[in-house]
This record gives sequence, C-alpha cells and structure tokens, in this order.
Amino acid sequence: LRHVWLDVDPGHDDATAIMLALSAPEYVDLLGVSTVHGNSDLLCTTKNAARCLYAFCADKDQKVHMGAAKPLIRHARHDPEIHGVDGLGGVRGLPDANSNIVKSIVSPIKAIDGMAASMKFVMEKLREKVSIVSCGPMTNLALFISVYPELLYCVEEIVFMGGGVGIGNRGAVAEFNVLCDPEAAQIVLNAPVKKTMIPINVTHTAIVTHDIHSKILGGSNYNGFSVPPPISDLRYTLSTLITFFADTYKHTFGFNNGPPLHDALTIAYIAHPEFFTRRRYRVDVELSGIHSLGQTVVDIWNYSGATEDRWGAEGKNCLVAESLDVPKFFQFFLECIDYCDTK
Ligand code: BDR
Ligand code: CA
Repeated sequence: LRHVWLDVDPGHDDATAIMLALSAPEYVDLLGVSTVHGNSDLLCTTKNAARCLYAFCADKDQKVHMGAAKPLIRHARHDPEIHGVDGLGGVRGLPDANSNIVKSIVSPIKAIDGMAASMKFVMEKLREKVSIVSCGPMTNLALFISVYPELLYCVEEIVFMGGGVGIGNRGAVAEFNVLCDPEAAQIVLNAPVKKTMIPINVTHTAIVTHDIHSKILGGSNYNGFSVPPPISDLRYTLSTLITFFADTYKHTFGFNNGPPLHDALTIAYIAHPEFFTRRRYRVDVELSGIHSLGQTVVDIWNYSGATEDRWGAEGKNCLVAESLDVPKFFQFFLECIDYCDTK
C-alpha cells in the first residue's frame, strides 16, 4: 500500500486518474488532491477535481487543495481544444461546479501546505514515506521542493505523466504538461528524490477502443439475447467522458481508434509497477530552444556520463517508462470501475 498525494488539472484523463486513486484501496492510500493551472484555469480545474471526488465517492477527509494559478515565469496556457473550455467538456452526471457540495470539498489549505502537512503526518504517525503523483504542469511540485526542501526525505517517489522521448503533442517535441511550465519540470528533475516519468510514447499505447468503451458500459456482461442492464451513474459519466475525449482526439490528432488515457497510467504505475518496463536516464528540459522549448531531452546514450548514485542535479535523475502491458492495464482499469460502482 502506497500513500499518495495526487496533483491534477482535470481534464478528462485526470478524472480517470482520480477514479483509479479512489478505487484501488489495496494499493493506493489517497491522502489528498491538489490542483494546478493546465487543461483549464485553476478555478475550473479545482472545481472539476472536487466534482470528481464527489462522483467517485471519496471519503470526507479527502479534500482538494488549490495550487498555482500560473507557471513559474511564463504565461498560463490551457487546452480547450482537447478538454473543452471548463476542462471537463461533455461530461455528464457530475455535481454542478458551483454547488455547495463542490465548495465543501475544497479545503482552505493551499496545495503545498496540504502536501507538507500530510507528509509530516504520515512520517510521524506511520514512519512511512509519501509518493507524489503529478498529472499536470509541475508548478506545485516545484514550489513544494523550493519551499519545503527539509521534507524531501519524506518523499518516496515522484511519478509524473509528462514529456516524450523524441516526440511531442503541443509542439513537435514538446508535451503539454512540460511545455506549460518547463522551468518547474526542470526543478522537479533536479530534485534529489527518486522520479519516474511516464511519457506520451507509453500513454499513447493505452487507447480506449470501442471494445474497452463497451466494457466500461458493462457490455461484457450483456449477451445480446436479453435487454441490456441499466447503466449505473458512474458508468454513464465515464462513457460521456470517453465519448467527448474520443471526439477531440480524433479531430485534433486524428486518433481514429479512441483517446489515450495518459494520466490514468500514473496510478496504474503506483499500484502495478510491474505492468511497465522502465530504464534510468539523465533527463533535462529544453528551456530556450526555438523549435524545441519544453522538450524532455532524454540522454539515451548517456553522452553526459551521468551515473546512478544520485537522483538530482548531475546524476541519471529519472526512470523513464518505456512500455506498458496494455491488456493488464485495462483489466486493472475495469476492475477499479467495478469497485467504484459498488462503493
Ligand atoms: C497531458 O496533457 C493533458 O492534456 C492531459 O491531461 C495529460 O496530463 C497529456 O499530454
Ligand atoms: Ca492532466
């Protein structure tokens, strides 16, 4: 069982990461959720995170903590083309963004202070460390590292969805999360803690095909000879989410088979690292390139001569996921939906 702090910018795939984090209690102890600018503005991503916590049956003490509204030095950018203006376009069945229930899930304690408090708590009470999972631009993580360096010994691992090895999705070689706040990503990569990067090369293999979509709808149980079972609220919500995400991925990137579940892979990695192959490299972010700003530069041939004795400034600083056992991932995903559905 791993204690997890989840930083998100929901975002359709972020919503699925939240669902997984709440639905694998043997593997994931979700301490809290923080929000960041990214797919939409901070107010929207915060309300969306709270809507998801409610819809996916979080406990009363699992709260949403607002983080950074903008990157460290650049202007904020959002992605309405993929996620709609409010970040969860087309998703039905969630509580209203301005409802009291949503307000009650947002804590007055800000992101980095919430992270610090829960890390101290877990260390003092259980003598255990916490993993930080990042599914958006890494501004909150960079701030936490800068403001609370004395708590880094409480961090077991940072797992982030972001970057690409030679490819991008919001630039020829720049991935959205890293491109939004490249300086923050570099601060995280320099931090002296274990890190794992899940790049788009791997997330693009986790495609929600028609077959998976019909299983989300409970299709695997429907033999075609009887009336299909009524669909639960949860399955309906997830189906509307996948439908919107599939449409935008088709129109924007030409993905005809379905959308990739990017952020969900982070929680799958926490629960089942054995689903992934990974290798340790020196990774840096291009901070001034004309064509390559925001690129994660992965030193595959180790030109830098980095060694494995450090996770920080000059060492091989990051494990990079290189492949995913896709059938096992979707089996886990569908099992989590079953669990969430019966909560
Ligand atoms: C990442 O960018 C966002 O659009 C997704 O939520 C994911 O975190 C993929 O590049
Ligand atoms: Ca995200």
